[in-house]
Amino acid sequence: MPSCHSTNDIALQILKKPDTHEGLVVITDHQTAGRGQRGNDWKSGLGTNLTLSIVLKPSFLQASDQFYFNMVASLAVLRMLNKCAEGEDIKVKWPNDVLLKEKKVAGILIENTLQRSAIQWSVMGIGVNVNQQDLGIGKATSLFTVTNVVYELPVLFELLIESLEYYYLKLKFGKRDELKSEYLQHLFGFHEFRKYRGEHLFDGKIIDVAESGRLVMETNRGIQSFDFKEVEFLY
Ligand code: BTN
Repeated sequence: MPSCHSTNDIALQILKKPDTHEGLVVITDHQTAGRGQRGNDWKSGLGTNLTLSIVLKPSFLQASDQFYFNMVASLAVLRMLNKCAEGEDIKVKWPNDVLLKEKKVAGILIENTLQRSAIQWSVMGIGVNVNQQDLGIGKATSLFTVTNVVYELPVLFELLIESLEYYYLKLKFGKRDELKSEYLQHLFGFHEFRKYRGEHLFDGKIIDVAESGRLVMETNRGIQSFDFKEVEFLY
């Protein structure tokens, strides 16, 4: 659709209808009220970027294992970006941002509905800064800013869906170890000492991501684990 408030909101509404199928995609050229993590806005230029939500039904996944879904989404975006900007420095930033040259190029907002302890529906909202040109300063970037190439959005869309299917099927067929090791392999700050802000500033080294999704770090106070809102990257 040419314009909408938020593709995630539309997908969440569609789910309420009884005949909804897994694989439905809501995509727009322009979001007027795009939502990000932590209640933030997601602003995206008109017709220049990918903004979409995919409806999935991972009923094989327990709610306690939902971080695997974050891995699937971030790896899918990373794989798509690697295919169109080969050789560039592309990393996943825990929990599920994607960085290009250490600046945010894509964000992911996953919203699940639960049925007892299993995930019933999942809306995977993905925003990728593709051809936007005014992102030179600050913590955000776009593919164009780094590569100076203008990309065909339908081509990127196809690559993204193909990559998503690749990792989603890995999860569905129980290849969790592969997913996790690939996620860690591409994780920004993995096995490197960097500065972070928790309750105070500290130097830490990411050593793992727990099944719960908590970030496990080696710090000067020993091994500590952090939830999403408890630690901030200072990079
Ligand atoms: C973040 O990094 O804070 C997450 C950003 C997620 C943005 C996407 S754009 C498509 C989908 N619809 C939304 O309202 N948000 C997500």
